[in-house]
Amino acid sequence: MDIACHQGYYAIQLARAGFGRVDATDVRQEHIDDVDLLRRIYALDNLHTRRADVFEMQNRADHDLVLMFGLLYHLENPVGALRKARALTRRACVIETQVVPHLSGMVDWGSYEYVRPLKGCFGIIDEIDETHAPEASVTGVCLAPSTEGLLWLLHAVGFRHAEVLPVPDDGYEQLRHGKRVMVAARV
Ligand SMILES: C[S@@+](CC[C@H](N)C(=O)[O-])C[C@H]1O[C@@H](n2cnc3c(N)ncnc32)[C@H](O)[C@@H]1O
Repeated sequence: MDIACHQGYYAIQLARAGFGRVDATDVRQEHIDDVDLLRRIYALDNLHTRRADVFEMQNRADHDLVLMFGLLYHLENPVGALRKARALTRRACVIETQVVPHLSGMVDWGSYEYVRPLKGCFGIIDEIDETHAPEASVTGVCLAPSTEGLLWLLHAVGFRHAEVLPVPDDGYEQLRHGKRVMVAARV
């Protein structure tokens, strides 16, 4: 399953790599039309497409591998999207996302005598004037997590194990510098 597949680059790689069935979804119909064109050109009978908002997808944990690349930080409900990813995953989920600097420390939770540790944080990003852009949010309100917060949330929504994947020396600069991460989560 490739959630927010755009023109389907990763879904097509999975289909060509021999996965039995690959489902590619995106909220924008123009992207799905492009994937359909490529599916016909490459004659990929194992690639299936559907226009869908991530939050409208049915909770069926029948996908061995779920990809959610470049989506989380375009959403106003990233925790809901992580719950959705967990609900769709049978074995493993890989999430790629922009991240924001982490904040840690203790928080007075109603009283200085009752304090809780901060598990992570979200940065609010404004895409309100960019919702027409093909790669952007559809609502314009974006919450980008810190890496520590993302790892904590992946456990909180029910993944057994989550880890940041290593970046090769010649990897994309944002990944090398920890401004984006690719995280593998297992059920
Ligand atoms: C930055 S692009 C990433 C595309 C691709 N996954 C990649 O990594 O190259 C973000 C994609 O998320 C899609 N998108 C935005 N909001 C969405 C939503 N609520 N549900 C599903 N897809 C969404 C956009 O249409 C766009 O294709």
